[in-house]
Amino acid sequence: MEIRVFRTDAEIGKTAADIICGCVREKPSCVLGLATGASPLPTYREMIAEYEAGRVSFKDVRTFNLDEYCDLPRDHKNSYYSFMVENLFSKTDIDMANVGFLDGNAPEKEESERYAAAIKAAGGIDIQILGIGRNGHIAFNEPSDEFTDEAWKVKLSDSTIEANSIYFDDIPMPRYAMTMGIGSIMRAGKIILIATGASKAQAVKDMIKGEVTPHCPASVLQRHADALILLDEAAAALL
Ligand code: PGA
Repeated sequence: MEIRVFRTDAEIGKTAADIICGCVREKPSCVLGLATGASPLPTYREMIAEYEAGRVSFKDVRTFNLDEYCDLPRDHKNSYYSFMVENLFSKTDIDMANVGFLDGNAPEKEESERYAAAIKAAGGIDIQILGIGRNGHIAFNEPSDEFTDEAWKVKLSDSTIEANSIYFDDIPMPRYAMTMGIGSIMRAGKIILIATGASKAQAVKDMIKGEVTPHCPASVLQRHADALILLDEAAAALL
């Protein structure tokens, strides 16, 4: 793991976006694993700025998102699909035909197999962006007794429901989600995990300094050959 600490979210976003845009310039059809939530937003803003300045084109990039809620229509404003359209896809030249997304309303086994096959057919993920949950989850892989492999349907933990409920104002937050598994994440060529704020400090410490255990799913990244951890000072406070 390479760990870097920054003063501002903007610096983190610039660092992550520079790496991603560099990859896209070198390999225009590269495969990006994308995350939702607050953590990647400054990165997406920088990617949009690079696109608007004419310094990068995403038209041949293929993308796979980490997760999607179950029991929520894809076009609901709180779906992760809508999040990505609003915060990245609609503001760049990403071709929607090249966008891969889990369907939270499809049967679990078939959907997991479909997603694994689609990622494989694309040649695997070159760069995977990740956030981390306050409980150490990555994507929606909540703390549990074993590491998962391919995409699966997860019952969200109380901690996740508490953290994400703030985004749901008209309907109750879904209790289940489809998420890429730990194995699918670990097969990415490079991982960039972003964590900011004091609420992430304990999870960041457990990820980096704790034992590798599915009770802190992010700790598995200690075993990844190319994992870059971008933190602000508050998230790094317990290191
Ligand atoms: P956040 O979520 O980026 O909104 O903090 C991260 C996560 O729960 O994985």
